[in-house]
Amino acid sequence: MSEQGTREQANSDQSTSQDRQAGGVRAWVNGELVNATGPSVAAVDHGITVGDGVFETCKVVDGAPFALGRHARRLDRSLAGLGLPAADHSVVDAGIEAVLSGEPIAYGRLRYTVTGGVGPLGSDRDTSALTYIVTASPTTPSPTSGKVVVVPWTRNERSATAGLKTTSYADNVVALAYAKERGGAEALFGNSVGNLCEGTGSNVFVVVDGQILTPDLASGPLAGVTRELVIEWCREEGLTVHAEPLAMSILTQADEVFITSTVKDVMAVHAIDDRPLPAPGPVTAQVAEIFNRLSRERLDP
Ligand SMILES: Cc1ncc(COP(=O)(O)O)c(C=O)c1O
Repeated sequence: MSEQGTREQANSDQSTSQDRQAGGVRAWVNGELVNATGPSVAAVDHGITVGDGVFETCKVVDGAPFALGRHARRLDRSLAGLGLPAADHSVVDAGIEAVLSGEPIAYGRLRYTVTGGVGPLGSDRDTSALTYIVTASPTTPSPTSGKVVVVPWTRNERSATAGLKTTSYADNVVALAYAKERGGAEALFGNSVGNLCEGTGSNVFVVVDGQILTPDLASGPLAGVTRELVIEWCREEGLTVHAEPLAMSILTQADEVFITSTVKDVMAVHAIDDRPLPAPGPVTAQVAEIFNRLSRERLDP
C-alpha cells in the first residue's frame, strides 16, 4: 500500500474507533484527530470560559458537505463581528478533510468551531492563537413537519452579537427545552420591539395570502444559509419572497408557516402553540420541492 494509502487506512481505523467511543462523533482539534469525548482543548480556552468563539454547521450527504463556501463566508463575518482575528481556512479545510475521510457519512452534520484560544479567566482577550475544532457525525433526517412554541424570552436585535453565530448558545438551550416540554420541535423568539425573529437553530417564514414573508436581518435573526438559498431560489423560480419586519401577530394570521435550517432544510410547521396549521401547505410544499431539487443539483451554491 502507498504511503498515502497507509495514512488513509490509519485515519479511517482511528475514525472508526473514535466513532465507537463518542456515539459516532469524529473530532479533530488543532491539527489532530482526537477522541471526541476525551481531553483536547485547554481548560482556559476562551471559547469555554466566556463563549468567545464562532461556529458553523453544514449538512453532509453521501460524505459531501453542502454549501461550504457560504458557511465559510459566514464564519468570517461572525469572527469579524466578535473582533477575533480572521480564521486560517486552510486549517479549517484540513480538519474537514480529516473528519470526512474514511467511511462516508450518508447523512450527517459537520460542525466547525473557531475560538479565541487560550485566554484570561474573564472577558479580556489574548487572541495570539485561535483554537480550531472540527467534528462530524451521522444524524437522522428531521421529520417533515413539527410544532413550534413561542417562548417568553426575546432576541436582542441591537446586541453586539446579533446575527453572529457565536458559541454562546445557552439562551437557545433554555428556549428549546421550554419548547420540547410543550411538545414542540422548535422554539420561536420575538425581538425586543415585538417583531418575529427566528428559532433557536432555524429561520422562520410565513405565508399570508399566497405571499412568502420572512423577518429581515435588522429584526435580529442569523443570516441562515438555508434562508438565503430559499429566498434566492424561490425568486429564481418566480415566487415572491419579502424580507421585512413582521409583527408577532402575523403568526395568528399566517396560512402556512415553515422553518429552515441546515439540518431541517424546509420544515413545515403543523402547529404554533395550540393553533394547528396545514403542513405542508401548498406554498410550503412548493418551496420544499424547489429547495430539495436545487440543493441536490448544486453542492456549493
Ligand atoms: C440561531 C440560528 N438561526 C438560524 C439558523 C439557520 O441557519 P442555517 O440555515 O445556516 O443553518 C441557525 C442554524 O443553526 C441558528 O443557529
